[in-house]
Amino acid sequence: MMREEDERLLIETGPGTPLNRFMRGYWIPVLRSVQLVAGGAPHRFTVLGASYVGFRGLDGRAGVMDEACPHRGASLALARNEPGGLRCIYHGWKMDVEGRVREAPTHPEEFHVASLRACAHPVREGQGIVWAWLGGGPAPAFRPLAFTDLPDDHVMAATLVAHCGWLQPLETLWDIFHAQILHNQTNRNSRRGSVYFSGRGRTLDNGVNYDYPQTLVEATPYGFVHSNVDAIKRTHFRFIAPFIQHHTLEPGATADKGLQISVPIDDEHTLLWMVFYNRTGPLAPDGFAMRGLAGVPDLNDFMAHLGPRTADNRWGQNRRAMERGESLSGIVGDTMLTSIFGEDLMAIESQGIRGRTREQLAVTDRALAFGRRRLLEMIREHEAGAPPAGRDLDLTNVEAVYELQAVEAVPG
Ligand code: FES
Ligand SMILES: [Fe+2]
Repeated sequence: MMREEDERLLIETGPGTPLNRFMRGYWIPVLRSVQLVAGGAPHRFTVLGASYVGFRGLDGRAGVMDEACPHRGASLALARNEPGGLRCIYHGWKMDVEGRVREAPTHPEEFHVASLRACAHPVREGQGIVWAWLGGGPAPAFRPLAFTDLPDDHVMAATLVAHCGWLQPLETLWDIFHAQILHNQTNRNSRRGSVYFSGRGRTLDNGVNYDYPQTLVEATPYGFVHSNVDAIKRTHFRFIAPFIQHHTLEPGATADKGLQISVPIDDEHTLLWMVFYNRTGPLAPDGFAMRGLAGVPDLNDFMAHLGPRTADNRWGQNRRAMERGESLSGIVGDTMLTSIFGEDLMAIESQGIRGRTREQLAVTDRALAFGRRRLLEMIREHEAGAPPAGRDLDLTNVEAVYELQAVEAVPG
């Protein structure tokens, strides 16, 4: 059971909290590149309880600024996107992507406008993702990850806003046992079924067969790794602080790989990134990413086409499909990926934001409990003056691993 003060440290994301300071020590993915159109309307967004605008100048460069105009706070989401910068519609200050004020009609002509500053944030754009440095002070070098030096056609990133705390999507990947139950039928119905279940596991009294895993955990300088071993497979998941989780998809040397990034918007809303990549070549039509996302109409909100999912409609749960035995969870998406994700969102959002002080954890929650402890340790070390854990490491070779167990040779 978790102490209340520990839970608060993990879930309170707003300005002035230790978690807020910790996360601002890292580059943060804030927008998909396609959300910013050269010369188009600025895009308003909230991260860690603060409001920003992203925009793309006519020269194609992406910029991120505080939403409030530095003069008297009008929203820069309303600004004109002019050559050389954003111009506030209220009194006409014009600011460039570096945060320099270019014109300030409020001041006498002899005034030196270069002495005024807007709050612009350094931006790194690549693989269809706009990352911002929201930490103040000079930005550290961008930390390389497994996909951040790949050509764009090797990577696919999709987002949605989940109505949950930022930690919950990570916890569901630390608690990978849930895939044996919540995703049991979805996994079986997909081509992943043959590599996910051994068929030699346990059987529940409703006929559902599953494999019980052994879980091993180990701290790393950047976070932790958890390995799950069951009768058919060994998987290794790697968490990278503060919010990146490499998870497995399918086995095979050329299979797509994946990670999730869980960015707090505020305590109750999370910008969830699904990133798929392939270091051996462009994403192929029969790979996991394209099978799941190629037909999705809006990758900025990749579940939107399936309709609203809230408590009022049981997150889209179809009870008739359950009664007819067509679906174990009641979630029927249009691809394996949207089915799995619909199942996850249903479970996560139904949990509520708090409640870790009342849980009864099981052996299968070992990685979950370890992940929370590791995060608490890293946040507390940061508060005590340590640099953000793993922030300056090259993490290009950190990714998930999915190995099938060797089949024992039958003698004779
Ligand atoms: S509030 Fe933006 S220029 Fe005055
Ligand atoms: Fe899941």
